[in-house]
Amino acid sequence: MSSLAVISQGNYALHIADILEIENLSFPTPWSYESFLEEIRNPVSHLWGIMEDESLSGYACFWIFHSEIQIINIAVHPSKRNRGLAQFLVDNIVKTATFNGIGALWLEVRESNHIAKRIYEKFGFREIHRRRHYYRDTREDAIVMSLMLFERRIAI
Ligand SMILES: CC(C)(COP(=O)(O)OP(=O)(O)OC[C@H]1O[C@@H](n2cnc3c(N)ncnc32)[C@H](O)[C@@H]1OP(=O)(O)O)[C@@H](O)C(=O)NCCC(=O)NCCS
Repeated sequence: MSSLAVISQGNYALHIADILEIENLSFPTPWSYESFLEEIRNPVSHLWGIMEDESLSGYACFWIFHSEIQIINIAVHPSKRNRGLAQFLVDNIVKTATFNGIGALWLEVRESNHIAKRIYEKFGFREIHRRRHYYRDTREDAIVMSLMLFERRIAI
């Protein structure tokens, strides 16, 4: 049974080791302890952990600002992948948008990240823009994807 935990300054110490382990196993240029701390201190930023029993299997970071949601980061522990956990996180972010009357969601994803792109497409995200050589580590393009829940334009 999966559930969501809101990671805040109150429970950061409890979860940050698990988050950093997943981060280091998931990204070529992982965020640091300080990067995550900056996020939970940022009033527009939201960090959710996905809990199974007592352990944190993945997390999502997203911003809510100017009536939009930007998904910043999603990762699932390699040993817990392909069980729908990322889709559970995305589903709950989209529901948060719906419940709060937020009409637009967007994100950036590496061009080569077919698994993530496919997940976002399942929720209706579509490519709207490409940022050439956006990622400094691999010089890879970023694909900007958006999901419009209500009719309005987003500013990126
Ligand atoms: C991307 C990531 C978050 C997905 O997490 P996850 O919990 O395994 O995802 P889910 O189980 O919800 O969904 C995985 C989907 O990818 C599919 N998939 C798995 N391996 C695949 C592959 N090699 N090629 C294509 N699709 C694949 C699965 O079949 C599943 O789709 P389905 O439900 O339609 O069958 C995880 O792989 C990860 O942490 N990657 C590293 C960090 C990352 O890239 N984050 C995204 C940044 S935008």
